[in-house]
Amino acid sequence: MASVDGFSHLVVHVTDLNRSEAFYRDIIGLDVIGRDLVTDDGPNSLLALNTRQRLVLVEVPEVTAIRPNSSTIHHAWLLTIDEFQRTRERMKKAGYDVDDSRAQFRAMGENSMDIFDPDGHRYQIQAYAPEATQVITEDIGPIACGHVDDFAVGSVKTFVKGKFCLVRLPDGFLALSRWCTHLNGLLSWKQEHWEFYCPMHGARFDRRGIARPKGRPCPPLRLHPVSIDDAGVVTVDPGTAITRSDFDPSQLTVPAATTREAETAQAGKGA
Ligand code: FES
Repeated sequence: MASVDGFSHLVVHVTDLNRSEAFYRDIIGLDVIGRDLVTDDGPNSLLALNTRQRLVLVEVPEVTAIRPNSSTIHHAWLLTIDEFQRTRERMKKAGYDVDDSRAQFRAMGENSMDIFDPDGHRYQIQAYAPEATQVITEDIGPIACGHVDDFAVGSVKTFVKGKFCLVRLPDGFLALSRWCTHLNGLLSWKQEHWEFYCPMHGARFDRRGIARPKGRPCPPLRLHPVSIDDAGVVTVDPGTAITRSDFDPSQLTVPAATTREAETAQAGKGA
């Protein structure tokens, strides 16, 4: 893979240099370095980002917005959360519609809004608040999930309270946090595909909580401690989340021979 430090500049065609320069300066917050500093086919304005990258506005007679209103071709700015909020306020004051129509599909702490510059170029403005990468737990005390025999080998049961899934693998139980290890989207178990799926950016995990090779690469799902008492009741503590780098069989909580298994073994002896 090529090693790239970043992009150096972006050229944007505009039909009114004054209008667009004001937009990128006053709304987006870039610094204007000067006019006609680059060799190009038209009057131009050079603007600076605080990352040392540059934006070059070049005035042309006509701009054809590529796929207007489409989400397939656009540029995205990633701002700090403070700068995102400042930009949002500036845009609101300037009369822009800054509502996020996809707010319900965002992961925790993920902020995004779409805007169009005066020529219809579409930009996504993004920022991630600290909640995006926090380890989320629910301090609601241990949850009694049911008897060992209630969980067939291979089954996955989703618990809304505590936001975890209890998985019974052939050798024991795992309680997987449903918070995606990419950016805290909330995962669902997809029985038809035998995998956990994150609707935010498409991560997929198997029943051990390991990211599927074809999906987004993510660390394994976090675990909650599982215990099984002498009566065979399985309890999970969603107030503790254990981070791990891979699956290891030692992570499983192994039940003692269950009542049902004991009965089956007993019946087998008698046969
Ligand atoms: S939050 Fe991004 S894939 Fe889950």
